[in-house]
Amino acid sequence: MALQFQAALNLRSAPAIHKKALKKWNLTIRAQTATTTPEIRQDKTEQKKTLRKGNVIVTGASSGLGLATAKALAETGEWHIIMACRNFLKAERAAKSVGIAKENYTTIHLDLASLESVRQFVENFRNSNMPLDVLVCNAAVYLPTAKQPSFTAEGFELSVGTNHLGHFLLSRLLLEDLKKSDYPSKRLIIVGSITGNTNTLAGNVPPKANLGDLRGLASGLNGGNSSPMIDGGDFDGAKAHKDSKVCNMLTMQEFHRRYHEETGITFASLYPGCIATTGLFREHIPLFRLLFPPFQKYITKGYVSEEEAGKRLAQVVSDPNLTKSGVYWSWNSNSSSFENQLSKEASDAEKALKLWEISERLVGLA
Ligand SMILES: NC(=O)c1ccc[n+]([C@@H]2O[C@H](COP(=O)([O-])OP(=O)(O)OC[C@H]3O[C@@H](n4cnc5c(N)ncnc54)[C@H](OP(=O)(O)O)[C@@H]3O)[C@@H](O)[C@H]2O)c1
Repeated sequence: MALQFQAALNLRSAPAIHKKALKKWNLTIRAQTATTTPEIRQDKTEQKKTLRKGNVIVTGASSGLGLATAKALAETGEWHIIMACRNFLKAERAAKSVGIAKENYTTIHLDLASLESVRQFVENFRNSNMPLDVLVCNAAVYLPTAKQPSFTAEGFELSVGTNHLGHFLLSRLLLEDLKKSDYPSKRLIIVGSITGNTNTLAGNVPPKANLGDLRGLASGLNGGNSSPMIDGGDFDGAKAHKDSKVCNMLTMQEFHRRYHEETGITFASLYPGCIATTGLFREHIPLFRLLFPPFQKYITKGYVSEEEAGKRLAQVVSDPNLTKSGVYWSWNSNSSSFENQLSKEASDAEKALKLWEISERLVGLA
């Protein structure tokens, strides 16, 4: 069952139901062809303006996709990476292990499972006097085998509390810093996933993402006098993760609607592909962890290496062709980027607004 579920996650290029649309995209998005290394702005006017390195905050840069992205960006020599991580020592070791030179990164402590820590992170970052040009909300937890919910410092179910609410507060606070940046292309990127999109085969494997009418979230998501699930249902760790990814994609679009025109900031989300080897699957049963990578490599052929996925996210950070705002990026089997379509729920503007308003109340912004 678990394998079936994960196999479905990894539709090699795009789900069959999107084949027609993909054909069209391939014709219309040739200008967005992926490159093997992230390009740094080449536009002449932009080049003139870019006198300094870009500063990018990457949450969860201590492993998997975040680390691979930090490495890809550092290798261009054009970016300084702020590794926003909950385990300082692990982050330092990770940076060293992939050869990121000391002058190309700064580690600042961030535990997304604590709103207090998020606020402290923002204060520490501001005290560093570094400008902020790009924010990448990448960190996540996935608890597919948990029988009981766990909770954040403020008592929210852990997956949604970390992946959505922690990032929601972080990005709302840092929006002010992004606005101040003089960098040619300012971006706020929230990593999404195919698993939250029920318009794909993968997204249709139970338990499906479903925020319902958000009654669980509205009543605090605390598992005490409210359900630990956004839709008010019984706890399901796999669903909680998928729900949190829907929140990530809805939040990106609400940011776009509210702030793109006024600020010029590019808001984007993406599905980097299935990266079968990352720590995201650390809570899965050992047999699954053993078989999942070769299954993806040799059976579904949907395997994406951490290195390749890191280059994809680095591309969304820095590629001058990917400045369109409000977009959910994906890549086809030739590693060419295209604007993918979100599911009905993950693109529901009314739900995005409701999620925004409830979330700002929960994190203390309203
Ligand atoms: N792997 C895939 O196939 C896949 C597919 C689609 C989307 N994604 C998305 O890609 C992103 C990265 O996942 P990954 O696969 O790279 O997983 P990963 O290797 O487990 O990385 C997750 C990162 O998040 C950090 N993190 C977890 N809880 C945190 C907290 N409370 N505060 C701060 N940081 C925290 C982890 O820190 P520690 O190192 O301290 O544990 C780690 O650095 C996630 O948003 C995930 O949904 C992954």
